[in-house]
Amino acid sequence: MKKFVAKDPRGQITRGKTARNRLRRVDNWLLMHEPALLRRNDGDYAKAWYVDLGYGVEPFTTLESAHRLRKVSPNLPVLGVEIDPERVQTALPYEDDQTKFRLGGFNLPLGVGDRVKIIRAFNVLRQYDETQVIEAHSVLLNQLLPGGLLLEGTSDPFGQVWVANVIQKTQAEPHRITPASTGLLFSTNFHNGFDPALFQPVLPKNYIHHMQPGERIYQFMEAWKFCARQTVSLRTLGLRQWFAQTARNLQEHGYRLDLRERFLNLGYLFWLGE
Ligand SMILES: C[S@@+](CC[C@H](N)C(=O)[O-])C[C@H]1O[C@@H](n2cnc3c(N)ncnc32)[C@H](O)[C@@H]1O
Repeated sequence: MKKFVAKDPRGQITRGKTARNRLRRVDNWLLMHEPALLRRNDGDYAKAWYVDLGYGVEPFTTLESAHRLRKVSPNLPVLGVEIDPERVQTALPYEDDQTKFRLGGFNLPLGVGDRVKIIRAFNVLRQYDETQVIEAHSVLLNQLLPGGLLLEGTSDPFGQVWVANVIQKTQAEPHRITPASTGLLFSTNFHNGFDPALFQPVLPKNYIHHMQPGERIYQFMEAWKFCARQTVSLRTLGLRQWFAQTARNLQEHGYRLDLRERFLNLGYLFWLGE
């Protein structure tokens, strides 16, 4: 085993199911939305890790992210972290100078001088109790550099539909959350058509049990469904046009959304935190 291992990894071994290219759209969103953060190299950001937490039985998603994200940040150090020692052993042969795998948990296996700029944890927290989610978020955020980003979400088996918590730490001390880059990100490749209800089964753990009248996520999803019905005639023009128009209508219901065309056309709806 490598020398950097968390002494007492926090968390539990869970099902390790993954799939090639499952998280491609997560990488693509990061490439479009966060190129500056990916490239950032000043001060503590020099050599700061992109961490893929809980990569599963095989490290495809980590290796694919390394390949894709290095298109904008050629020397990006990528660290795959798993709490299952066997899964770490499986990944070790794939290491290279810039891609490493270590045993660890929410308390990341970091050595002296290791810094972290982005943490992606996909399909990890859904298998935990909801009560453990806030703590896991806070432990992970504490290990990010100021200005760093946590992407924590749930996808369907092939990554065609997913929803993620996006949480950016402020630049300033004491660290808070940056509202401008923090929120709930919905993603679809339209393979299964479009209906806001398609996102419900993949809501992250901190939302999935709150689809009840009176809850904010329920109101949001109901408003989105209403906007989809209002604009259904656009379906004949194309699912992307329809999706984009639902987002514009939804903003009129008081939700703060990223309405940039290039994100909407690709099937990304970002509901920004208040
Ligand atoms: C379903 S797999 C997800 C694989 C990949 N991220 C994906 O989306 O395809 C979840 C993995 O997270 C790992 N895991 C769960 N809790 C963890 C923790 N606290 N720290 C590190 N890995 C964890 C599990 O051992 C499992 O291999």
